[in-house]
Amino acid sequence: MIFILIILALIVSVYIYLTWNFDYWQKRNVPAPKATPFFGNTPNNFLRKQHVTYDIDKIYNEFKGKTPFVGFIQTREPQLMLLEPEVVKDVLIRKFNAFRNNPFTDMIDPKNDPLFAQNPFFLKDEEWKEKRAEITPAFTINRLKVLYPLIQDVLLRMVKYIQDKIDDTFDARELCAKYTVDVVSNCIFGIDAQSFVKEKPEIREMGRKLFAPSTLIFVKMFIVNSFPFLKKFVKVQFSTFEVQQFFVDLMKQTLKYREENKIQREDFLDHVIQLRKKKNLDETAMASHTISFFTDGFETSSIAIAHALYELAKNKRVQNKLREEVNKNCDGNGLVSFETLNEMSYLDQCFYEALRMHPPAMFTSRICDETVDLEFEGKKVTVDKGMNVFLPIIQMHYDPEIFLEPNKFHPERFDDGELKNYRDRCALIPFGNGGRQCLGMKFALMQSKAALAAIVHNFEISVNEKTQDNPLVLDPNEFLNIKIGGLWLNFTRLSV
Ligand code: HEM
Repeated sequence: MIFILIILALIVSVYIYLTWNFDYWQKRNVPAPKATPFFGNTPNNFLRKQHVTYDIDKIYNEFKGKTPFVGFIQTREPQLMLLEPEVVKDVLIRKFNAFRNNPFTDMIDPKNDPLFAQNPFFLKDEEWKEKRAEITPAFTINRLKVLYPLIQDVLLRMVKYIQDKIDDTFDARELCAKYTVDVVSNCIFGIDAQSFVKEKPEIREMGRKLFAPSTLIFVKMFIVNSFPFLKKFVKVQFSTFEVQQFFVDLMKQTLKYREENKIQREDFLDHVIQLRKKKNLDETAMASHTISFFTDGFETSSIAIAHALYELAKNKRVQNKLREEVNKNCDGNGLVSFETLNEMSYLDQCFYEALRMHPPAMFTSRICDETVDLEFEGKKVTVDKGMNVFLPIIQMHYDPEIFLEPNKFHPERFDDGELKNYRDRCALIPFGNGGRQCLGMKFALMQSKAALAAIVHNFEISVNEKTQDNPLVLDPNEFLNIKIGGLWLNFTRLSV
């Protein structure tokens, strides 16, 4: 009998613990959906039957238009979701100081994962400021211009690769990952990763391992998100020692080769070498900068390019219109110069329209560092210090009140300066915005737009029936926007 009573008491205690915060939003008069014990409002965080983005869709669609902010519960932790671009702008830009950190900081174990632990994305306050300031000068227009010929080399290799296999069907994501791995390896280390030659090049395999979310990582992130007080004890290790060692060795070999052969190239490694001299960086700090560029640089952009190709393949009118713009601006080798790439407005609009429909990162978040009020059209919420504020990127991008006919791939919606307008209003935020906006945005735009221009100039693309797009479904085993079954495309050579 006592045993049964103990068990019952335990069950009741766990239930009370898990549901303790369920009236948090009610007490503050903030609208919120009803939460379920253990799951809160995001059951797929735990069950992973579907991508958790679909849970967020439900909340967004139920409350949008009724309130500018909605509370929800992640397992047992209250979070605040913003539903109006004006309020998103408050958090990202106007009140940046109160929301300068994201909830992913402190998550990485610096002892076991020193390379990831120094990535600005995972840092906070002064440390974040310092590391971000170290990397920012590597992405000035002048430095990007120096990197551009390296990208053009890879473009020629990619075009040849497609040409040689023209009768095959390509998974756009695999193809684009080959391209971005080669670009990023070339721009960081000045080496050819050989993605278009070898079936499984080592750098690509190591890159894949760097960011392949294991079940253990999902479990740890679930625990950390749900029970933030455990953050101190439950640390996430993204990269294994094998992978870390591979990248540290790669950097050391490249440094040695450059020193011995007196090679000077104004690439990313050169920037890191200058930093070592100025700031006395040790090898781990140097490797961390290079590995950050590698991890942040290849996966997000390859997802973005792949989806842009998919949308172009589906929309022949847009593809032809883009081809006209590209063909007008190509040189004799079928390449577009750095300056021209930045001036091609339809290309920019096509890429941003693909980023709107398929943002690689579907949400971002901020931690509130001082209690602060948010207001919109007379409605107010007080955000407590420590609250996780959730910014639903993909849901805003599909909001019909913000983007007319959101399911339509329609780059013309950004005609007449509207692209800047949407971005300035924080309605279109594939790269975030404000002080923590994506650090590699200009690089990402350069490598992605260059690839789209080269492909539409050389090939006509269409969707292959292997693509499971009725509708496309997000892969629940990935953090980023990756579709189940891949995005399969056919290429037809154009006479150029
Ligand atoms: C199409 C490609 C890319 C997309 C869509 C993308 C998107 C994002 C987003 C949404 C954030 C969070 C911003 C926020 O919370 O406000 C971010 C942060 C970041 N991204 Fe990117 N990114 C891309 C490519 C790149 C590349 C190529 C690099 C580096 C070479 C890079 C480096 C970073 C870094 C370092 C941060 C953290 C910034 C900070 O916390 O201060 N990203 N990115």
